[in-house]
Amino acid sequence: MVSYKELGLVNTVDLFKKAVKGGYAIPAYNFNNMEQLQAIVAACVETKSPVILQVSAGARKYANQTMLRYMAQGAVEYAKELGMNIPIVLHLDHGDSFELCKSCIETGFSSVMIDGSALPYEKNVELTKKVCEFAHSQKDYVTVEGELGVLAGVEDDVAAEQSHYTRPEDVQDFVKKTGVDSLAISIGTSHGRAKFKPEQCTRTADGILLPPPLRFDILEEVEKRLPGFPIVLHGSSSVPIEYVKIINQYGGKLMDSVGIPEEQLRKAAKSAVCKINIDSDGRLAMTAMIRKVFVEKPEEFDPRKYLGPARDELKKLYMHKNLEVLGSAGKA
Ligand code: G3H
Ligand code: 13P
Ligand code: ZN
Repeated sequence: MVSYKELGLVNTVDLFKKAVKGGYAIPAYNFNNMEQLQAIVAACVETKSPVILQVSAGARKYANQTMLRYMAQGAVEYAKELGMNIPIVLHLDHGDSFELCKSCIETGFSSVMIDGSALPYEKNVELTKKVCEFAHSQKDYVTVEGELGVLAGVEDDVAAEQSHYTRPEDVQDFVKKTGVDSLAISIGTSHGRAKFKPEQCTRTADGILLPPPLRFDILEEVEKRLPGFPIVLHGSSSVPIEYVKIINQYGGKLMDSVGIPEEQLRKAAKSAVCKINIDSDGRLAMTAMIRKVFVEKPEEFDPRKYLGPARDELKKLYMHKNLEVLGSAGKA
């Protein structure tokens, strides 16, 4: 059993309180490897932003849970070495069972998500409550994110064939019965790089797909029922067209990619949305740079020569998000 405080990590309580008051959102960036983690930490130190390091069940399998624990500890030390002891949360993304959440809590996570959104309402309440009771009874309080409403696409191991928006009339009851510290809601975002079908979008003269707007009316209804309560947005990559173009120019095939426009995320971040999840944009940035090096320098075979530029681009991307989209820069 290792407590997150021993690793130098924090839970989300204070971060969310300040973010809701201050009208910004804390970035929740997924990582699976060292280069992604270095880029996240360097970008957040340089922009003086708090950060949530997100690990999916898939990432945990890929990187190994012991490696992850030391990587998170390494992230804390790396941030200090770069000049600022920014608040860092280690969070399980889309936990799908009590056992997985428990195991993460026992190996140093300071926050977990239990995603019962695909379950019938009462089952979701039951599972989420069980995780909250365990997480909150630890010597060092571990925070829990629950979810109501289903996002389109695949949520890690939780497959959601069909999306449905969060029903504002359920949120008070869910929070009261479960004791969650934050709530992920479904207002039109979804996971991955193709968030909408072309037929749901309008197309600009130069062929760019414009998605339908997020359901800010639902968000407002949720806020009315849960004043000041921390709300989370998943599936919030913007899918920058420049990266898609580079990937396709250098041999990739990513058709009909479309994300959430940054202005809409900025608007959400000013409301009770205080955690915004971004993974796909990082994947696109890395892939674009790696493909470019492979095509332009086919003689290269040193991984540092293609992972290095990918890491540099990732850092740029995260700095941009903190400064221009989430508003978290300067809030550490
Ligand atoms: O919401 C899902 C995240 O993007 C994690 O994806 O399960 O492929 O690691 P993953
Ligand atoms: P994106 O696929 O839009 O980056 O969403 C990531 C996410 O929600 C992780 O939980
Ligand atoms: Zn998600």
